[in-house]
Amino acid sequence: MAKIPPGVGPRFPQVVVLFGATGDLARRKLLPGLYHLSTAGFIPSCRIIGVSLDDIDVEGFRAAARSALDEFFNRNMTDRDWQAFASSLDYVPLAAGAPALKAAVDRAEQSLGTESRRLHYLSVPPSAALSAVRLLGEAGLVQHARIVMEKPFGTDLASSHELNTRLHEVFAEEQIFRIDHFLGKEPAQNILAFRFANGLFEPIWNRNFIDHVQIDVPETLGLGKRSGFYEQTGAYRDMVVTHLFQILAFMAMEPPTALDPAPIGEEKNKVFRSMLPIDPAHVVRGQYVGYRGEDGVDPESETETFIALKCYIDNWRWAGVPFFLRTGKRLAEGQRIISIAFREPPKSMFPAGSGVGAQGPDHLTFDLADASKMSLSFYGKRPGPGMRLDKLSLQFAMHDTGLLGEVLEAYERLILDAMRGDRTLFTTAEGIERLWQVSTQLLESPPPVRLYEPGSWGPKSIHQLIAPHAWRLPFERAWRAPNPLGS
Ligand code: BG6
Repeated sequence: MAKIPPGVGPRFPQVVVLFGATGDLARRKLLPGLYHLSTAGFIPSCRIIGVSLDDIDVEGFRAAARSALDEFFNRNMTDRDWQAFASSLDYVPLAAGAPALKAAVDRAEQSLGTESRRLHYLSVPPSAALSAVRLLGEAGLVQHARIVMEKPFGTDLASSHELNTRLHEVFAEEQIFRIDHFLGKEPAQNILAFRFANGLFEPIWNRNFIDHVQIDVPETLGLGKRSGFYEQTGAYRDMVVTHLFQILAFMAMEPPTALDPAPIGEEKNKVFRSMLPIDPAHVVRGQYVGYRGEDGVDPESETETFIALKCYIDNWRWAGVPFFLRTGKRLAEGQRIISIAFREPPKSMFPAGSGVGAQGPDHLTFDLADASKMSLSFYGKRPGPGMRLDKLSLQFAMHDTGLLGEVLEAYERLILDAMRGDRTLFTTAEGIERLWQVSTQLLESPPPVRLYEPGSWGPKSIHQLIAPHAWRLPFERAWRAPNPLGS
């Protein structure tokens, strides 16, 4: 078992009530994540009660969990660990109601034999979230509990406000953890380290030096079994108003006074307050060809599977600097990058044809994959006679550190933080409501969806949106291959 430093885990054993326990997210991330946290010693001990619409028994749930781990857990799994984990699982079908759920939690707490805490995880679509909250209230499971809510938090300003009001009828705000898993990604937190632990970059982190910013998260995957959920959601609500705007806040915020939830939340909310309303004329909505023929999709669906937009943060640091955001399904490549383009020098002494400026401006690029990378590109001299310039780069790759195995998957990190009651990487009701507010115009008068071919980079009009600049992806120069000795 890995050696876990003291203090990183919760003090008390945990009883996790996992709503949506047989769903896509539970299979891909939550069960593998809970398995890792339990078996690697991050949590003193843990019982997990699965809840879902499926009419299965505990053995059925154990089998479902095992198949999820076989498919999605990518570390070593021993038979001993699996047996211990399997015996910590229990299951209550939703139809069994509040008394059965309460009885399962009582059993779990008794089996722990010591003081414990409850973590309710709502991995369910927005339409099902409030009934799960009511069920928890009815079952008397609110005390000693924290509740993790999955996005989207509402679908617009009025519904997010309403959701928060209803939530507060059962849980106090301090108990509610609104999760945005992009903030749990190691490289997202590294943005804070990079910006605020170094004296080198912060002085140039503003409109005087930065020309524009791109946050680009194309995905190759389609919707699979999620089309029912996605039809109601679309790319903007699924990805932008949540993940991409949260990343934007880390990228754009002022230095917080401390690495604590309140100061960080305050600085992020200031960014959101300074955002100009999203102008529908600065938005490209797309839908991949074939989406309308998928199971669960309206044959005349106007849901966007792609979105690209330009937005502005109208404060002293960022006034006039465009932020370009893009994400979509079934695109040419799966990437998650932030790319910062620096202003070019005002004058050039280099003769025409030397290559200066020919490969775009200097860029700082963050790759938000678990195996994160960073690159700073600049012009340098090509060896030999004369003065020919080439784009060069300084690169960091997590691979090369040999520490990749230490990276906690985003959900693992955030589940652990919620168990410890640490809200630093969670979003606030105020911030979310403001993001819906800046989205109102777009949600009320969205531009028409344009079709794009699967495997492309989206509808053609994305180029007009960003002109005279260009999308960084696909990269002209690939990342340096990882050092084989590093990992
Ligand atoms: C989820 C979205 O929140 O994030 C999905 O609902 C998306 O549509 C996923 O695919 C992307 O997350 P990651 O961690 O795989 O980049």
